[in-house]
Formats: sequence, C-alpha cells, structure tokens
Amino acid sequence: MNDHSPRRLRGSLLERAAGQFHYADAPRLPVEPLPPLRAAEPLPAAPMFVPEPIAAPEPAFVPEPAFVPEAVFVAEPVFVAPVAVEDVVAAPAESEPVEELELGDAFLAPEPEAQSGVIDRALLREGGMIVPGAPITPLAEEFRMVKRQLLTTARAVANQGTAQAGDRARMILVCSAHPDEGKTFCAINLALSMAAEKDMEILLVDADFAKPDILERLGLPGGPGLLDVLGGSVADAEACIIRTDVPQLSVLPAGTRTNADTELLASDRARAILDGLASANPRRIVIFDSPPALAASPASVLAFHVGQAMLVVRADKTTEGDLREAVTTLDACEHIQLILNAVSFQPGGRRFGSYYGETAQ
Ligand SMILES: Nc1ncnc2c1ncn2[C@@H]1O[C@H](COP(=O)(O)OP(=O)(O)OP(=O)(O)O)[C@@H](O)[C@H]1O
Ligand SMILES: [Mg+2]
Repeated sequence: MNDHSPRRLRGSLLERAAGQFHYADAPRLPVEPLPPLRAAEPLPAAPMFVPEPIAAPEPAFVPEPAFVPEAVFVAEPVFVAPVAVEDVVAAPAESEPVEELELGDAFLAPEPEAQSGVIDRALLREGGMIVPGAPITPLAEEFRMVKRQLLTTARAVANQGTAQAGDRARMILVCSAHPDEGKTFCAINLALSMAAEKDMEILLVDADFAKPDILERLGLPGGPGLLDVLGGSVADAEACIIRTDVPQLSVLPAGTRTNADTELLASDRARAILDGLASANPRRIVIFDSPPALAASPASVLAFHVGQAMLVVRADKTTEGDLREAVTTLDACEHIQLILNAVSFQPGGRRFGSYYGETAQ
C-alpha cells in the first residue's frame, strides 16, 4: 500500500520517490562540491552603437562659373605685338592686296554731303600705326588676321540671321577693361586695315565721349558728332561724318561733351540712330572706339547696340579677373572676340608678317 499520509507527502520529491521505489539505501554517488560562487566577471562594455554619420546629400551640380557667359562667342585671341616706331617704314606707296567680301546686295548708297579731312601720315607713323599705302608691316599683317575674323562673323550673321541682325553684325565695338590698354590704337588700325578691303566703307566712330582721341590721333579737324545727334542739336548723323583722304575711310567725331552720355546712348532714339548708321549703307562697317568697360558706363550700353565686340587685352597688364568682369559687362553683345595687344613673346618666336618684313624694306 502506498502511504499517502500528509506527513509522508510533506517530503521532498526525491524522498517520496525513494519511499515509493525503495532505493533509499542505494549507494550514493560521490557528489562533486560545486565551486564557490564567484562574482561574475564584469562583462566587457558593449560597444555603444554609434550610427554612421549620415552622408551629406550630394551637392547640387553647380557648374564652374563660366569664363564666358553663355551665348557669347569668344574666338581665339589674336596677338598683336607692340610696335616700335622704328619698325614702321616710310616707303613708296604699295597698296595692300585686297580681298573680296560680299556683305549684301551690291548697292552703294550715295553718301550725303559731308566734311572732309586729310589723315596725317606722320602722326600714324609716330604712333606706330598702319600707314596707308606703306609696305605691309608685321602690324598690318596682324590686323589682317583680326579683321578677317570680324568680317567672317559679319558675313555669317548677314547670311543666316535677320536683316537687322546682319546690320548689327557690321557694328563692332572696340573695348577693354581699363584705360590705356590700346582700344584707340586697335580701333584705328582695324579701321585702316578694313578700309583696304574691296567694296567696303569704314566708319570709325569716336564713342569714348569722356576722352575722345580719334581726331587728334589722325590729325583731323574737330566738328559736331554723335553726342550732338543723340542730344538732338544736329538732326542727321551723316552730316557729321568726316570723309578722309584714305579711300573708304570716314570718321564720326564724339561731339559736344555732356554728363548725360550714358542716358542718351540708352534711349530708343540712340538705338534708331546707331542702327541707321549701319542700315544707311549695306557695305558699311561701323567701328566704335569706346571707353573702358570697367571704368565707365557707356561701354555696356554700346554693347547692346552692336553685333560684335573686340575686347583688347593688354599683355602683362589686364588680369584674368578684369577680363572676366569686362566680358560680363559686355554680355549684351552676342559675339565677343579677344585681341591680345602688345605681346612681346610669341610662341615659336615668330610673328605674323615677318614674311612680308623681309621684302618690304
Ligand atoms: N601694340 C602697340 N604697340 C605700340 N604702342 C601701343 C600698342 N598698343 C597701344 N600702344 C600705345 O599705348 C598707348 C595707349 O593706347 P591707347 O590710347 O590706344 O589706349 P586706350 O585703351 O584707348 O586708352 P584710353 O582708355 O585712355 O582711351 C598709346 O600711346 C598707344 O599708341
Ligand atoms: Mg582711347
């Protein structure tokens, strides 16, 4: 019989099992004493979860500030070396070969009656400039390169653009960042070089209203000019034009000085007057000698009116920063060409025109 008394039931489960199955007297297995309890080894500190720094989002693509604003075409610069006065030789007349250029319909508008003057060749020689009729000098050859690029652009725009764009492309602004970088020197030489082109009329406009220089440099007499027409005291710009003894070269003086030159230039009337200078004659190329882009405001306004700008960069003088800023100032003009003036170093030690220099003297 099983003993289910409360006393018996009160034993441990082993005692109760021993009673039940009679193994209480079975030999006991040796019991290994348990090792004393030891304080648990401190757990190595769990490494703290440090989230990976969230990568900054890819920066938005910001293009490098463009050296030349979009839609502005800057051609390879043309190099013009400094000219020593001795380089320019007074020689018997030998005319520069001319090249044919067609800018529009063969239509020569009759010039209205205008003043006339004689260009002082001695002054040109003294200033180291191209002397019409003299043998081809290295400088003359360099300006042939310069004018070729400008005429190519004028022709391309005339062929592909609207009639108005074609007229504007025949208006060329000669500019630079700062004073004394050779704007007037380049404008006069460009005008003299272009005047040798066949079937072409060149109008050199003195648009440096604060420091007009063209008449004095060419030895021409003074007279009313562009500012008088813009201001309304003279009705017709054509009447102010001075025809010179150099075939196909005329000059429009700056006119009477005024403090409102920039405002006059920015007017609708100015737009119509300047457009009229080009549209009056489809063979006319209008060259503007301008004030420096970074020193006076009229240059940027003139850039709105012309189709091409020639930015004179004076070697060893104009900084890259100034050049960038000048390009920005003129960005209303679609075609900007650089001309590196007064370069004394030429890669390869060669200079345009050296071929002609051998035989011309
Ligand atoms: N390539 C060159 N070779 C020789 N002389 C040069 C050359 N370029 C400029 N000059 C001379 O440097 C001087 C300054 O040139 P120029 O008067 O043409 O500068 P500019 O930019 O028109 O000045 P401004 O802003 O005062 O009108 C002039 O005496 C000019 O003859
Ligand atoms: Mg000048």
